[in-house]
Amino acid sequence: MRRQERRQHLSRSAGRFTLGTVSEQTPVTPHPGEELLRVAEAVHAGEVTVAFTPGPTVLAKVGEKLLDIAEASQVSIDSGCRMGMCGSDPVRILEGDENLSKMRSAERRTLERLGLGADCRMACVSRVQGPVVVDPQPGLEASSESKDGEPQRLAVTSDDALRRAIRRVVVVGAGVAGVTAAEEVRRALPDTELTLIGDEPYAFYNRMAITRLVSESVSIESLYLNRRDWAESRRIDYRRGVPATAIDRANREVHLADGERLPYDRAVIATGARPLVPPIEGVGTEGSFMLRTIDDAVQIQQHIRRRRCRTAVIVGAGLLGLEAAYYLTQLDVRVRVLDRGPWPLSRQLDEHAGALLWEMLQDLGIELLPKTEAQRVLSDDAVTGVELIDGGSIEAELCLIATGILPNSELAEAAGLEVAVGVTVDDGMQTSDPHVFAVGDVVDHNGRRYGLWPASVEQAQVAAARMIGSEAAFQLPAQPARLKVPGIDLLSIGVVDAAGGESRTVAVSAYGTRRYRKLILEQGRLTGAIILGSPELFDDVTKAVEIGLDLGSDLDALERGKWQALSRGVEGGTLALGVSAT
Ligand SMILES: Cc1cc2nc3c(=O)[nH]c(=O)nc-3n(C[C@H](O)[C@H](O)[C@H](O)COP(=O)(O)OP(=O)(O)OC[C@H]3O[C@@H](n4cnc5c(N)ncnc54)[C@H](O)[C@@H]3O)c2cc1C
Ligand code: FES
Repeated sequence: MRRQERRQHLSRSAGRFTLGTVSEQTPVTPHPGEELLRVAEAVHAGEVTVAFTPGPTVLAKVGEKLLDIAEASQVSIDSGCRMGMCGSDPVRILEGDENLSKMRSAERRTLERLGLGADCRMACVSRVQGPVVVDPQPGLEASSESKDGEPQRLAVTSDDALRRAIRRVVVVGAGVAGVTAAEEVRRALPDTELTLIGDEPYAFYNRMAITRLVSESVSIESLYLNRRDWAESRRIDYRRGVPATAIDRANREVHLADGERLPYDRAVIATGARPLVPPIEGVGTEGSFMLRTIDDAVQIQQHIRRRRCRTAVIVGAGLLGLEAAYYLTQLDVRVRVLDRGPWPLSRQLDEHAGALLWEMLQDLGIELLPKTEAQRVLSDDAVTGVELIDGGSIEAELCLIATGILPNSELAEAAGLEVAVGVTVDDGMQTSDPHVFAVGDVVDHNGRRYGLWPASVEQAQVAAARMIGSEAAFQLPAQPARLKVPGIDLLSIGVVDAAGGESRTVAVSAYGTRRYRKLILEQGRLTGAIILGSPELFDDVTKAVEIGLDLGSDLDALERGKWQALSRGVEGGTLALGVSAT
């Protein structure tokens, strides 16, 4: 007999069990204890319950991260850096906070910046170790502000005379580098006069997520990363929508476009970068775009709607180009991606991983044209196509250039500071003028430009600490590249091809699957990895590459597919890899 009933339900959903109240036609359960038994079995098998309130209750593996669990259970949580640094995905822990992995300093600082209390965590870095109850949308405005509303003082060695001498600090640029610098300067110098200048009209937003604005009907506000009262509560004079036009080093003043002059004892340049435009004729005609800001994303979206675009060409098959391609396909636009390289992400992937990724992108409706270069954007009153260097052409109603970035170093250069391509800085983020620091995408550090969110955060922290006399130095381990395309789990970090000599490669690829794991070792130490599929390995492999894990004596085991060997040496052997060959 079937009848309508409401009951606690345990079912396989999106690859996991879901426990929740459902309404459906089902036979009466003959054994009411059956569900409890199944839950008990799951716990025994290393699974724990995660209750999203509101939302479903699901079973997750011990060691899984709250963000991954939420995404697999269709619980809506925004994401960005996936490193606890951007602030996209705060959750409130209603019960079981003792059952989550320990909080690290990067996460703590992000929560402080968001003004969230001790009951919150960043979902992307919180691993479950026991049952938890989670509010996935705590809401920044409604949250309980941490104690006195200000970040805690910076706990670094400092010079008191220096602290007293710095009465005014001006930060130019209000992206992640500038906002973090302001936050950290306030921690370091609670009494200094602090001004933050940003030329964009928007509050601090998640630049990494603007691609979503192209296709999804998300609001601009949903990209904002700080509470509305962030600046006020930290006594930061935040000037939005006003460009700085000059830095007068002789008089120590920053000039603003509205004519104001702001005196400083220390200045921080955090003007970021803009898209690099290759010498392609016709860039700039209506329908040709770059993607760096909210305004860019909105203009692309409006062009597609106005012109009812059905075809697009993207120049550049890097991370940004591929992510943009995915979001354009979501609007039923036929997307072709050109690249000079032989396969997508050719700087981050080897040929095998590139071929697998290519197949996966094709399945998503993205066409790739490798070893192809654009020469001219064709147009009448708007873009009609792209002419290629080999003489061929492709029809398209939209052209997006995604070929890299160029630091916004003009302000620094005009002020007479040393500039390579970006602003030259030492390990303490100091420019050629000891009163001026530079951080984020605008800098050149030891000949390197990072173009990454975590690097910008770290640099801003170092600059603030150095300002008060600490010996902090910027050192960034190999940075992971992750593709933010739903359905493709891809990590690439460090060296991707063995150089010969003492180098060794351990690669595992199960025939007929699109899973691939590769480790590169030099003299027994891990220097790089590519992991396609298996997202549960990402954090641990990243850490193993960061610390240059010595796997010398475990090479044989690794080659036989016994990847448990990786778990030794990382976090004192507590790594939860637990995998064998694919
Ligand atoms: C679509 C996209 C996806 C990304 N994905 C990732 C990712 O997955 N992982 C990752 O690590 N990184 C990613 N990045 C890169 C990351 O966003 C940057 O590394 C980071 O934003 C750099 O921060 P920043 O503060 O140095 O520069 P920006 O974010 O560029 O901020 C600089 C700010 O200064 C302003 N400014 C410039 N000149 C002046 C002036 N004269 N006066 C006042 N203001 C000025 C600019 O308008 C801007 O608002 C992505 C970037 C984009 C565009
Ligand atoms: S996605 Fe979690 S803090 Fe950035």
